[in-house]
Amino acid sequence: MDAIAVRGGRPLRGTIRVGGAKNAALPILCATLLSDGESLLRNVPGLRDIDTTSALLGFLGRDVTVAVPEVRVAAATREARPEAPYELVRQMRASVLVLGPLLARYGRAKVSLPGGCAIGARPIDQHLKGLEALGATIEVSHGYVIAKAGRLRGAEIVFDLPTVTGTENLLMAAALAKGRTTLINCAREPEVEELARVLNKMGARVEGAGTTTIHVTGADELEPFDHAVVSDRIEAGTFMAAVGAAGGDVLLENAPLEDLEPVIVKLRHAGLFIEREGSHVRVVREGPLRAVDVTTAPHPGFPTDMQAQLMAMMCVAEGRCVLTETIFENRFMHVPELCRMGADIEIRNNTAFVQGVKSLSGASVMATDLRASASLIIAGLVAEGETTVRRVYHLDRGYERIEVKLAGAGAQIERVRLEGPP
Ligand code: EPZ
Repeated sequence: MDAIAVRGGRPLRGTIRVGGAKNAALPILCATLLSDGESLLRNVPGLRDIDTTSALLGFLGRDVTVAVPEVRVAAATREARPEAPYELVRQMRASVLVLGPLLARYGRAKVSLPGGCAIGARPIDQHLKGLEALGATIEVSHGYVIAKAGRLRGAEIVFDLPTVTGTENLLMAAALAKGRTTLINCAREPEVEELARVLNKMGARVEGAGTTTIHVTGADELEPFDHAVVSDRIEAGTFMAAVGAAGGDVLLENAPLEDLEPVIVKLRHAGLFIEREGSHVRVVREGPLRAVDVTTAPHPGFPTDMQAQLMAMMCVAEGRCVLTETIFENRFMHVPELCRMGADIEIRNNTAFVQGVKSLSGASVMATDLRASASLIIAGLVAEGETTVRRVYHLDRGYERIEVKLAGAGAQIERVRLEGPP
């Protein structure tokens, strides 16, 4: 079983390239189901979630060639099998993103309920309500969503709360629906805007993506696409938090500054220098690291996907801060592991009170979910001695060779093979 071993105490210096956005690439790959032609997605990161999505598309009847940074989805030649089995969906909740496209393109879909995950129950009621509003009949039985529809019809849909993949599922379904759909109370994440750009390239008419109200005029048929996916704002933010914790002076290549505004403002308040320098973003932390309070919120608030990484940085900041997680009910599983490294963190309900300490001590720790893994690596970069992060399969879902990228900026970090239980 792989683990990541990191020795702390060295500031980061050098250049780190930010890859394509995982959470944009996943819905866009599912959007290939809306067209029978051959599509090409560029700037795709080499991640487990990309491999899982490609395997799922293959199961559904589309041949996929993964040659990162390119993924090619071949034209439909075989009869589609609009079924996403539990064995695949349980590996990646985002598999639910095939539901909308399958229903819109084939009029039927059988998709395993994703079930919860480490960070929360992760229901999909908003996805299902929206699809019913477009004319689908939805049945849930034996752990599967079984959906049927004739041609979907445009409708007015109000989300009870902003949901990223819920918005994305409905955008893809509406893109082939007859007439006009209005989605209200949408998620405004940049990944939603990126999907809308691709749907427009395919021939749908999507207006208002990035705002709370999106209008979609469906097409009778959609064209394939050739698209280069945007850079990953969460990967970029993760490296910024790493510089914040370890100190140093790093140039981030391909970092999407604009989409990271809520994170950058907080990191600057904490004492980081973050500015665009040509095509790079320079991130420096040489002075004291100050504690800053953060409450996660839907975009354009502070992203929940950066909460764990910021917390690792706050563990060694001067002062005490309050981190409140409002999106998921169980996204503090990195806390006990950070405390094993000497962090001073107290949790009360959905709020973590972090008292900065002089230093952390390296330890053997366990990753529990994707962003928690990154948090433990950031802590390891600043801890005294060696930290071994186990169960890095969580990390490999969303970070491409993070240990190689950090080693390229001077970190003492490597992937090791451990014997025995994970
Ligand atoms: C997306 O998940 C991201 N995943 C998550 O990133 C991210 O943390 C999350 O958005 C929030 O930004 C992908 O894009 C593949 P939501 P998603 O639906 O769409 C509740 C990572 O680390 N909800 O926006 O599943 C839900 O329980 C991952 O890269 C319902 O109640 O999140 C949550 O409390 C982790 N009913 C809130 O809405 C629904 O039908 C927001 O969830 C849907 C969601």
